[in-house]
Amino acid sequence: MAAILNNPVNPIIPWLGGKRRLADRLIPLMPQHECYVELFCGGAALYFLRPVPASVEVLNDINGELVNLYRIVQHHPEEFVRQFKWALSSRQVFKWLQQQPVEPLTDIQRAARFFYLQHHAFGGKVAGQSFGTATTAPSVNLLRIEESLSAAHLRLAAGTTVENLPWYDCLARYDRSHTFFYADPPYWETEGYGVPFSWDQYERLSDAMRTCRGKVMLSINDHPAIRDCFDGLVFHEVGIKYSVANNQAAPKESGELVITNYQPEVMGGLF
Ligand SMILES: C[S@@+](CC[C@H](N)C(=O)[O-])C[C@H]1O[C@@H](n2cnc3c(N)ncnc32)[C@H](O)[C@@H]1O
Repeated sequence: MAAILNNPVNPIIPWLGGKRRLADRLIPLMPQHECYVELFCGGAALYFLRPVPASVEVLNDINGELVNLYRIVQHHPEEFVRQFKWALSSRQVFKWLQQQPVEPLTDIQRAARFFYLQHHAFGGKVAGQSFGTATTAPSVNLLRIEESLSAAHLRLAAGTTVENLPWYDCLARYDRSHTFFYADPPYWETEGYGVPFSWDQYERLSDAMRTCRGKVMLSINDHPAIRDCFDGLVFHEVGIKYSVANNQAAPKESGELVITNYQPEVMGGLF
């Protein structure tokens, strides 16, 4: 078990804006800490991929379906996997599940529905999902879910607290000098999570980073308004190459900005 806990684990769902491909650049920027909190966890790429867990870990997101999924994988992995015993990857099943009201479902059924939709949705989209057509590899191998979830289960079950709070309440609750917050909010002027994230939220994040006791690392799109809002904090430019599905053109580079309220020890060697 210790061997598993000291190895990176694959995130369990694709997520719009997930930081899987930036993990090797962001993890070295983390400061020393005892308590690790992801304020906007989504697919929680950094949590799963960091090689050594912190003593105390917290995953938080406003999306209740996502939080329910993590709790179910944490506490009822066998029953969760059983939901997929005879499942098919199918556009029709995808549509039926989209139309299915969640109220009559048990928490385990709700988690399975959400997991199925998220794995079959184009681009890991969360709101306005459409069925993603896979031609080079299956979007998910439903027969191998147990294998891929067992490491995530051990990771979550080893004491991670899962919260479903607005980010500010989560920050206020865990703010200590030994806490490290990773903040990966929706990008400014982009949509896709089904919840509003207005400009005043970035201003509030900027204020919180200047006044809180813990250390905060924020990842965000590089935009002049964002640079103004967080002026005075420590900026790190990180480019990420991406190619759009079925696009033959050369990969484009998107501007990503990492902002910290501390000076990372390894700064300079990474970018
Ligand atoms: C860019 S995604 C996080 C991606 C994540 N770091 C990953 O690697 O998959 C932003 C997340 O913020 C969440 N969110 C939006 N508004 C929020 C709020 N007010 N409080 C907490 N979470 C929020 C969304 O549900 C979404 O999962």
